[in-house]
Formats: sequence, C-alpha cells, structure tokens
Amino acid sequence: MTLARTGATGQGGLDPQVLAFTSSLVPDLQLVREDLLGSLAHVVMLSKQGLIPRADAQALHRALVELWKTRPTLPAEEDVHMAVESHLGTLVGEAARRLHTARSRNDQVALDLKLHVREQCRLAVVNLTALAQSLAERAARERSTVLPAYTHRQRAQPVSLAYWFLSWTFGFLRDAEAFAFALGQANVSPLGVGAVSGTSLANDREVTRSLLGFARATDNGLDTVADRDFALDYLHAASKCLVRVGRLGAEVVDYASAEFGVVKLGDAIACGSSMMPQKKNPDVFELLRGNSARQLGDLMGLFALMKGLPAGYFRDLQEDRGPILATSARLAGCLPILQLALKQITFDAERCRALVSDGSTQATDLAEALVAQGLPFRDAYARVGALVAQSRTLGVPLAQLTLEQAQAVVPQADAAWLRKLDPSAAAKAKLSAGSTGEAALDTQLSTVTTRIQMLNAAAGQVPSLDALFSRLSEATP
Ligand code: ARG
Repeated sequence: MTLARTGATGQGGLDPQVLAFTSSLVPDLQLVREDLLGSLAHVVMLSKQGLIPRADAQALHRALVELWKTRPTLPAEEDVHMAVESHLGTLVGEAARRLHTARSRNDQVALDLKLHVREQCRLAVVNLTALAQSLAERAARERSTVLPAYTHRQRAQPVSLAYWFLSWTFGFLRDAEAFAFALGQANVSPLGVGAVSGTSLANDREVTRSLLGFARATDNGLDTVADRDFALDYLHAASKCLVRVGRLGAEVVDYASAEFGVVKLGDAIACGSSMMPQKKNPDVFELLRGNSARQLGDLMGLFALMKGLPAGYFRDLQEDRGPILATSARLAGCLPILQLALKQITFDAERCRALVSDGSTQATDLAEALVAQGLPFRDAYARVGALVAQSRTLGVPLAQLTLEQAQAVVPQADAAWLRKLDPSAAAKAKLSAGSTGEAALDTQLSTVTTRIQMLNAAAGQVPSLDALFSRLSEATP
C-alpha cells in the first residue's frame, strides 16, 4: 500500500520508504472502533465546551457515526488517527480541520489501547467464567469416578474426578481475577492530556471520561503518554492463563496416551496422521500448549519495549501493537476452543479405578487410621511402610493381602482397617477443607459459584464497545 501524508502530521518531503517504515496503519486498523469512539466523545466535549462551532461538531458526529456503521476503506495514512481525520475531510470538508483541537495522537493512541484492553479483559473474564462454570458442572457429574492424583508423575493418592476438574477451575478463576485487575488498570481515561503537558484550551476531561465509561481519569499527562502498565498487566494475565491452558493441555495429552489410557478423545476433536491410519491425536491440546509459548514471547517483547524508555512519549511505543493485538487474537482463539475440546473428552472410569486398585496409593489412609487409634504418625508410617515392603516381597498387591498376612506385620490390622484400601472410600473419607472429601467438594462447588458471580458483576460494570457506540451515537453535540 502506498501511504500518503497530509500536512497535518508535519512538514512534507518525507521519503516514502521512511513513511512506510514509520507507519502503524496496518496494526492500527484493528483499533478503528476504539478510535472512532474516542473521537465521538471528543467531539461532544469540544462542542459542549464551545471549543468548536456546534454545527461543525454535529457534522463530525454524524460522519463518525456513519464511519462506524459503514466501515469504508480508510485512506492509506500514517496511522489510524490520521486516516480517520483525512477520511472525515472528504465527508465534512473544513469541519474536519477542527477535530484535533486540544488532543494529540499521544493521548489518542493511549485511549485506543485502553479501550481495547478494557474490552478484551472484559471478554476474557466472560469466557473464563463460562469455562469455570462448565468445568464445575462437569465436576458435579463426575464425583464418583476416582483416579490417582500424581506427585512427581508417580501415582500418589486417590481423588474424585470432581476434584481434578475443580483444581483447574480454581486456576481459571484466578486468571479471571487477574484479567479483572488488568481491566481496572485500563479503566482510567487518558484522553485530554494532549501530547505531554496538557492543553491551554478548556478541554473538560471529565466529560470524555464519563462518556467513555471510565472509572476515573489519569492524574499526570507526562506519566500518561508513556504508560503501558495496563497493557503489561493484560499480557501478564494472559500469559498466566495461557500457561495454565497449556499445562491442562499437557495433562490431557498424557492422559490420552495408551500408557495412561485415562482419557478418550471425541472424534470431533481427534486429529489423524497422514501416514498412520490408526492415529487419533490430541493436536488441539498440543496447539493450546504451543500457543502459550508464543504468549510468553509477547509478554517479554512488551517488557523489553518499555525497559529503558525515559519519561514522555517515544515512537518506540508504536511497537506495543504487535504483542497486544496478538494476545487478543490468541485469547479469542484459545479460550473457546479449550471449552469446546474439554466437552469432547471422556474419562474411562474403569481404567481410572484400575490405576488405584492395587491399594498402594491408599497407604497413607492406612497409616492415618492407625493414628486415629492413638499411634504416633511416625510409628504408623513405619508399620504401613513395612506392610508395603512385605506386599512387594510377596508379590501381592496391598489390597489383596489376607488379614493374616497383614496382621503379621501390623498387629492392629482388622477387616475394617483393610477396608480403608477401597479407593472411593479413601477419597471420600478426607475431612480437611480443600480436600477431595465429600463435604470439601460441596464447599468448593459453592465457592466457585460465588466467585463466578463476583467476576461477572465486575465485568458487567464496564460497557462493551458496542454499548458505548449506542451511548455515544445518541449523545449528539
Ligand atoms: N502512530 C503513533 C503510535 O502508534 C501515534 C502517535 C504518534 N505520535 C507522535 N508523536 N508521532 O504510537
């Protein structure tokens, strides 16, 4: 695309190759809606303050509304701000020359990014609470399936499959909370600080703040034009979230292997091999894990961009668009696919049970039963350890030892004690808060519901871009 340059951006004579190099138009075009909303609010404020004639403001307002509705191809200008201004010139003529009164592209780009980050954080919260809700519903249906929980990738203790689903649910709720935090950081209006020091014209920042639904306005323009902390918070939340998505992906990839045999992939999400006719591969979960790698690259990229920037605006900041927009596209791709794919995995309850049926993962439960009879834990641990050793020597799984064989090592052993080896009983018997026990699972399920409600309430407080447009298109100057 050949870029044009209006007199509006300074002296002419810029080498076209330099103009192409310095332009941000291509990534900026993904921020057109945000840019139009900012201009709508700005025009209303300019008119209200008597900074431009009402007729010009009305013409500009009408043209901006039309641009939102028709989304014409914008002229190839240096960036989206100039492209919109230049296009308005063709629609309203001279009035367009008043649009940039008491405004700079430096506060404008900060505004576009804040509106974008706020909207994306809102969507991430909505997507993550929907995911948490579906995981919790699944958990409630899978309470009676038991499978091993792993430590060191060795079978450790039997747990309810509900507990496994809830473990990921709580992680995703923390992610949603991190996005809600980033949303709050983005919810502060930068509009009206101008290039760096403010303006001598009567720009009422409170008007634009309120029209754009921001919680408050920024406090210092020198800080504002160089600030991308809100974007770092957004990318940090996205990175934690996508690393978790990748970890869950890794778990499913393992579980779907014949070696574990715990998970079956539905045909709708199982990918094949071009050569091996027998293959049903978990590509979706592998790609989710792969996406988290690129997310970390974007987080580091934005941090590196900010590192070493002194106070004030620098053109370096234009490079923020790559990591921010890539993050938004990645979240929009990964979160719905994860929810879809998780609905397509089933757990093989028999196989899960088989993995904990030899009894060894219930050894701690045997020891705790001895503690309940008054034995010091260390003594109980040693006795049960000896019993495990004996079962290995005899080549008989713990759960298949006879009462006599058990009593030969643990004199306190009786039939009730050996029943602790039942994996479901062992899982259900956990009493501590946050455990896989029955009452603890009830508590966890209701905690999830409460936290989802709080998160949705927070997300519901900020207007969507579409809702903002409805509001602003009616706020005629
Ligand atoms: N295209 C620029 C950006 O994305 C807009 C701000 C330009 N400001 C300036 N002083 N040249 O950051």
